[in-house]
Amino acid sequence: MTTIDRYGVMGYPVSHSRSPVIHRLFALQTSQSLQYELLQVAPDKLETAVRQFQRTGGKGLNITVPHKGEVAKLCDQLSERASTAGAVNTLSFRDGEILGDNTDGIGLLRDLVINLGITLEGANILVLGAGGATRGIIGPLLEMQPSSLRIANRTLDKAEALAQHFSRSGPISACSFSAVPVTVEYDLIINATSAGFRGEAPPYPAAAVWKDTLCYDLSYGLKATPFSEWAREQGAERSVMGWGMLVEQAAESFNIWRGIRPDTAPVLKQMKITA
Ligand code: ATR
Repeated sequence: MTTIDRYGVMGYPVSHSRSPVIHRLFALQTSQSLQYELLQVAPDKLETAVRQFQRTGGKGLNITVPHKGEVAKLCDQLSERASTAGAVNTLSFRDGEILGDNTDGIGLLRDLVINLGITLEGANILVLGAGGATRGIIGPLLEMQPSSLRIANRTLDKAEALAQHFSRSGPISACSFSAVPVTVEYDLIINATSAGFRGEAPPYPAAAVWKDTLCYDLSYGLKATPFSEWAREQGAERSVMGWGMLVEQAAESFNIWRGIRPDTAPVLKQMKITA
């Protein structure tokens, strides 16, 4: 009897997740036979749910908010990028082992460089926020050899701790929102705060936005996020939500599981149309 390989996304809440749609489109495009489920799992049930998925023959999971940090503890092996990020978004179940990887950083880079055509080498980058999302993208961004990478956060201590943690990897510094230098022409500003989830637009540093600054919100929504709206109001000609990162990180996960990388362009187009 042939069984269909099972995958899914675990989160809490998870009903909003677009991952099932994206992975089904990838499967169609690459003629792979698989099923992909939405799995709502509360934090205190995470370990039981992951182990049950493994025991019943599941092949792989995407892990989303709020489990990305905790799930790392369940992994038998972690990729280097997952351990640097301190977070896992992709699990593979192979030979009785749980392998943890993180495709968020590479997903962001591919969206910025390939889809949006931005040059990161020599760029001045400002990242807003100093939580888990920021931690996951700092390593990959520094690998692109920017001229500077500044983390600005409401709570200065957290930004400083992250800058200290990554200080050997590149030119990184930290400050509060109000201390962002007004003289630096930022090429890229990334919103990695979770403020938008609650519809909040904190006092982001307006002077950091120039006409040519690419403003990128890691969040995405059916309508413009508070940050992307704010960026346009400050005069940014390009203000983008994280749909591209979402599709690109999914493609990387798909590749890990199935050994084939789908073409993201048509899927991204379709996601934006149906958004
Ligand atoms: P995530 O894993 O999504 O990064 P997190 O680790 O809870 O979530 O981090 C949330 C980030 O959003 C933090 O940088 C937080 O700022 P603080 O460190 O000062 O808490 C930021 N954030 C959330 N709500 C915010 C708001 N209303 N104004 C400014 N920053 C906010």
